[in-house]
Amino acid sequence: MSNLDLFSGVLDEKDILKSDEVIDPFLSDWRGTIKGKAQAVLCPRSTMQVSKILKIADENNLVLVPQGGNTGLVGGGIPDRSGKAFVLCLRRMNQVRTFSCKNRSMTVEAGCILGDLKNLALENELYFPLNLAARGSCTVGGNLSTNAGGINVLKYGSARDLCLGIEVVLLGGEILNLLAPLRKDNTGYDLKQIFIGAEGTLGIITAASLKLFSLPNFRVTALVGIPDLSTGLDLLRLLQKISNDQVEAFEIMSKSLFDVVFKHFPDINKPFDNTSELLILMEVSSSQTRLIDQKIGDQVPLYTLMEDFLSEALEKNMVSDVILAYDDFQREQLWKIRENAAEAQKRESSPVNTDISVTCDSLQEFYNLATDAVRSMCSKTRICCYGHMGDGNLHFNLIEQDGGDKNWDVKSIQLTKLVYDALYQVNGSISAEHGIGSMKMEQLKFVKDGTSLSIMANLKRLFDPKDLLNPGKVIDYRLY
Ligand code: FAD
Ligand code: LAC
Ligand code: ZN
Repeated sequence: MSNLDLFSGVLDEKDILKSDEVIDPFLSDWRGTIKGKAQAVLCPRSTMQVSKILKIADENNLVLVPQGGNTGLVGGGIPDRSGKAFVLCLRRMNQVRTFSCKNRSMTVEAGCILGDLKNLALENELYFPLNLAARGSCTVGGNLSTNAGGINVLKYGSARDLCLGIEVVLLGGEILNLLAPLRKDNTGYDLKQIFIGAEGTLGIITAASLKLFSLPNFRVTALVGIPDLSTGLDLLRLLQKISNDQVEAFEIMSKSLFDVVFKHFPDINKPFDNTSELLILMEVSSSQTRLIDQKIGDQVPLYTLMEDFLSEALEKNMVSDVILAYDDFQREQLWKIRENAAEAQKRESSPVNTDISVTCDSLQEFYNLATDAVRSMCSKTRICCYGHMGDGNLHFNLIEQDGGDKNWDVKSIQLTKLVYDALYQVNGSISAEHGIGSMKMEQLKFVKDGTSLSIMANLKRLFDPKDLLNPGKVIDYRLY
């Protein structure tokens, strides 16, 4: 019996994808830089089918690579080039099991698309906050497996903070039901946390219970130029103070990012003719139109609060160019610049992509160290920095000089090393929100101590002693 026949007793023929043409999109990552091979793509429609697949995999030593929307940015969902693996695509498990306005929670299957869940919450006048540019195709299973962050971690936390429970299928087929959407549950070890952020190396997430929030119907959005990151952080703290911590987004973008976005998306309105070197896109949101202005002790409209805040910041030279969005269209135009950052860079060249995390105290220092190091090696390399500054999370990305750079392949490796050296000097992390996947395994040992690596390796041995679940991702447990 062939390996494929083993699965035809579990899945309908139409849920086993085999032809090269059909499985091709599952075998390369979003950026198109990592390519793998597989025997087939298995598309279960129920937890029971996933359980049977994991039992067969265990009994026959078959490798499974879980995949959701395949929008991950570190190669985590792509099999290696041996062609032995089966991709386990969860996208067809996309049912909403329960939705409770009273409990403010929803229990959904792993293949549900993030954008659809956000819309479902909206239809019920509630809010599921997780928000990233890939929301139209990424899945809840992928979001939890990477502990995705995105643009409003500042106010709502990462995927982990939004999760009340999960259902996981373990190698061998056992179903671990941790789905109860309880707000409080102190019954020993919190097992779900082990699988969140594990990138499919310990088990398959088949469903999750997620938190819902009041809908912040009212938003005020501004784009400002800032002289440096340190001033940017001062601005953030002031805005958080006057808005009672209602700052939902505080995203940094560099001028070189703007140039690349407008080059590839000429239809987006250009907010300024001349842009400052660093800009912040900030947004305050609330379920009420008015917030207390602590200075006057009275309620003021959100818009007025932001207007006053920005004029004071202008007077103090904390900001230069200022645009306060006056309607939804202008707000959308501003967000389009930010949301097309990754796509624009992909179209421009093959950039050095990073996802660094530092304490806010070290942001400016890291930025200076990394910028100086890059500049001293390649003065014309474009520093395309953007990201979630309020979380200390920068995508400090590098693009080859305008017009191309014939040694870019070699240079980009050396430059990556320089950026990481700067990062290690301030004790930062190589992954804030994208995970480790296959791309960052080498660097893991530089940011984790021996004890942590050994505990991680032991967890892998416990849940997957034969290395059948997403091998070659996160950690090579044999080394520790
Ligand atoms: P996939 O890419 O399919 O998989 C990701 C990882 O999870 C893989 O290791 C895979 O094996 C594993 N996995 C998937 N499903 C399961 C499951 N059910 N059980 C176990 N393991 C599973 N990320 C951020 O954090 N913040 C951002 O702002 C952000 N912006 C992005 C913008 C763009 C344009 C793109 C393309 C990506 C962005 N990302 C961002 C990357 C982010 O990781 C993903 O978009 C998302 O969280 C991954 O979901 P997915 O369903 O596509 O997962
Ligand atoms: C973003 C992705 C790349 O922030 O994380 O756009
Ligand atoms: Zn990001």
